[in-house]
Amino acid sequence: MTISSGSSPELIYALRRVSESAALAAFDWIGRGDGMDGGRAALDAMLSALAEVDIDAVVVIGEAGKGEAPQPARGERLGRPGSAFKADIAMDPVEGTSYLARGQTNALAVLAVAPRGTMMNPAPAFYMEKFVAPAPARGKIDPHWTTGRKLRVLAEVLNKDVSQLTIYVLEKPRHRELIDDIIRAGARVALYPAGDVAGALLAAIPGSGIDALMGTGGTPEGVMSACAVRGLGGEFLARIDPQLHTEAKAVRESGLSTSRWYARDELIASDDVFFCATGITTGLMVDGVERTRTHYKVQTMMVIGATGERQIITSYLPRERTGQSQSAARDVA
Ligand code: FBP
Repeated sequence: MTISSGSSPELIYALRRVSESAALAAFDWIGRGDGMDGGRAALDAMLSALAEVDIDAVVVIGEAGKGEAPQPARGERLGRPGSAFKADIAMDPVEGTSYLARGQTNALAVLAVAPRGTMMNPAPAFYMEKFVAPAPARGKIDPHWTTGRKLRVLAEVLNKDVSQLTIYVLEKPRHRELIDDIIRAGARVALYPAGDVAGALLAAIPGSGIDALMGTGGTPEGVMSACAVRGLGGEFLARIDPQLHTEAKAVRESGLSTSRWYARDELIASDDVFFCATGITTGLMVDGVERTRTHYKVQTMMVIGATGERQIITSYLPRERTGQSQSAARDVA
């Protein structure tokens, strides 16, 4: 059985509530200096909300690769085991833990669902190099090319000059050469200290102001964003790229290749994906949680692969129904 997310408004609604619940739970932890408690609260909220969803989901992306943020264990059954609807699930209750802890923009609660057996399990790799671009770049760019050549061809297929390209890159010491190469090629960089899920989505959305995502980030984030990018019809190429000594050893022992580039459809082998990201703090794609005396306002971007739709939904949730605590963090009225 497939998910048929496109034809099941009930399921889409229920799954959206899962990432909304996580964002609401994280709200009180914005700018409290510690992302872990917020992460735990968001995870608990996500799990409780999922228990209400008629889905038999196996966690493919759970345990954070880097071992920092609280996550469910890989292989864990979530939702309602026994439901007819069998799925793989990937979740990141707080994408951008440092943003949450520091009260910065761009923290998200993220969820991706796909038919059982279609999501790549990247264990034990924590990091992957990614190349993400909009639909016209599909199949046109060889990831082995130099950065300059990739950008020249990307500009060509997007009908732009290289100088009009903006490339999203995580600002990390490992990307110094990549950043130099992008600038030397004549394109702009958009450097962010964290959050390559947003970068991947923006890269796949035509006209977003971001033309590609390049560089190495988390594998969990990679597989989750590959779901969204497939739903959006964009290009997503990835290569296992260990950054930690223990990770490199585990990857070697598992026989995983670090030179092979995985195609998008190897990372996620179905069009029938569902992805949603709810803003915890306001960011590049969606607004963050706001609380008034009577309501919470939450905004979620959804990608529904079955129909190719992208939606941004703003919900106003009565406070007395959300079960959130009464303490104030960022009340707006
Ligand atoms: P967390 O919220 O788990 O910290 O992830 C944020 C993030 O920036 C991801 O978007 C990205 O894929 C990964 O961390 C990069 O890892 P690192 O900061 O270790 O380079």
